[in-house]
Amino acid sequence: MEQQFWQEKWNANEIGFHQDSVHPLLEKHFASLGLEKGDRVFVPLCGKSSDIICLQKMGYEVVGLELSEVAAQSFFSENNLYASINDAGEYKRFQSAHIEILCGDFFSVTKEILGNISAVFDRAALIALPPEMRKQYAEKMQYILNSDVETLLIALEYPDSSVNGPPFAVFQKEVEALYGGWCTVELLEKADTEVKGTPCHEMAYRLKVS
Ligand SMILES: C[S@@+](CC[C@H](N)C(=O)[O-])C[C@H]1O[C@@H](n2cnc3c(N)ncnc32)[C@H](O)[C@@H]1O
Repeated sequence: MEQQFWQEKWNANEIGFHQDSVHPLLEKHFASLGLEKGDRVFVPLCGKSSDIICLQKMGYEVVGLELSEVAAQSFFSENNLYASINDAGEYKRFQSAHIEILCGDFFSVTKEILGNISAVFDRAALIALPPEMRKQYAEKMQYILNSDVETLLIALEYPDSSVNGPPFAVFQKEVEALYGGWCTVELLEKADTEVKGTPCHEMAYRLKVS
């Protein structure tokens, strides 16, 4: 999935992946990460996700990262939030109270730009990427996350070839291959769902950098 693919989706408002409601597995499992109020939570490939507002309401500082400026602008305007806009290296930083969105390429991000991250919420980020990019994505996470940082990862499982990705099926074996060498991987829940009319399983994992 090249950057142009996503920019075109946002420009044409073809954003079937966006959900107005908060992801139920976020509400159910995020508290098990044992964070403290004020901790900084990273939401990679965040789009204009309602989950950002949910995390902010839970008392966290939220930092999203998103390629599309259309998505970032829409997030703040649709939530009636004023955001200041500053340059942060090669990123544009949209900032309001307790929420910032960095606009730019995930694969260029550094620890310095992100600040001290305590946890990650990954919904439709890893599974938005084709196989070769998923490896780079996990390597980047390994580089930017300190020990003990926990991630709530939501992945999808469906029989290969039954859905044209994205979203892509990412099976437990692959999650373990991508993260198992540097994180503990714990499956929290396997829930029934549907993607593009196909019955699927949504898998919630807790990953902890060891
Ligand atoms: C499937 S959407 C999911 C968005 C969001 N997580 C949600 O749950 O609604 C994937 C998002 O990743 C963004 N994206 C894709 N490649 C990216 C990259 N290299 N850097 C930053 N964002 C990227 C896309 O623009 C898109 O908004």
